[in-house]
Amino acid sequence: MKQAAITAVGGNVPNYVLTNQELEKMVDTTDEWIISRTGIKERRILREPGKATSDMAAAAVLQLCEKRGINPSEIDLLICATVTGDLVFPATANIICDKIGAKKAWSYDIGAACSGFIYSLVTGAQFIKTGSYQKVVVVGADKMSAILDYQDRSTCVIFGDGAGAVLLEPTEEEVGIKDFILRSDGAGMQHLHMKAGGSLMPPSHETIDKRLHYVYQEGQAVFKHAVYNMAEVSADIMRRNNLKAEDIAYLVSHQANKRIIEATATRMGLGPEKVLMNIERYGNTTGGTLPLLMWDYEKLFKKGDNLVLSAFGGGFTWGSVWLKWAYNSK
Ligand code: ACO
Repeated sequence: MKQAAITAVGGNVPNYVLTNQELEKMVDTTDEWIISRTGIKERRILREPGKATSDMAAAAVLQLCEKRGINPSEIDLLICATVTGDLVFPATANIICDKIGAKKAWSYDIGAACSGFIYSLVTGAQFIKTGSYQKVVVVGADKMSAILDYQDRSTCVIFGDGAGAVLLEPTEEEVGIKDFILRSDGAGMQHLHMKAGGSLMPPSHETIDKRLHYVYQEGQAVFKHAVYNMAEVSADIMRRNNLKAEDIAYLVSHQANKRIIEATATRMGLGPEKVLMNIERYGNTTGGTLPLLMWDYEKLFKKGDNLVLSAFGGGFTWGSVWLKWAYNSK
């Protein structure tokens, strides 16, 4: 059976930089608190009216196509991981395909919050491994600023907007996605969700007055589950594949909190030189974090490098992926 390998990466973040100093003027917080508790210094915000998640995603995919030298009309399937779709329906993936001219592709969204990218990556890889498709694009994109309450200091400082995308193609070589562990637990819903806007509580004057169309998070409960579960699956994927710390080139972890990333790395026995981070510049972009991390650090990766991707998010959802990087970047 063929392997599914990442053969190109693209990314896009909005130009507007929202700094901790600016947030100090909006809510009762400090630069020192945000940096020491999360590691975040600034985040990007998509402020232009009429622009949405699909605009960042489309730019990321077009960049990826250009880097790989392909036309969007060659894409067979596009999967978009997002919790901030342009509309409740249709799927944002459909809108992205229309914007980029991916005329042949079929497309759909996956909603798994901060684990959405690894869920989508593993799903997309199956279509390559079975030989059904040659070119599958996986996008992680979120405009979190659309669902954040900028009066709630416990959530508005954490998140930012951004999109990243990868291309999956078949390979006969010993590279690509080697193994994955994916998990979910709906009982985690109580700690992290958006109360209104769905079929349980459709929008009304009351839901707006009560500020229910925003991210609701019990930070400490989510923190505890994230630390334990992300570390557990990351250590498990190493154990069951006989990977030692020295075999791993880099940990590509979801960027929610520097302390969660460090705890995962410690459990895996990895030193800080193997832990990739860009949380200080983008904050938590939900579906966007992992592909944006690969986009930022692509030049570091060598063909054959072992990467462990791991994520934890709303649901709860979490998981890890072991892949061998497939190319040396130019
Ligand atoms: N500035 C200053 N003080 C603040 C701020 C702020 N921005 N936010 C909260 N505080 C206060 C709280 O009110 C609290 O004050 P109190 O002790 O007087 O009540 C105090 O700081 C401590 O609050 P905690 O919530 O315990 O702070 P904690 O150290 O846990 O950090 C954080 C909060 C950063 C949210 C952390 O819990 C975290 O990272 N949680 C996990 C987030 C995550 O991984 N989410 C999953 C992905 S998101 C997704 O899937 C969409």
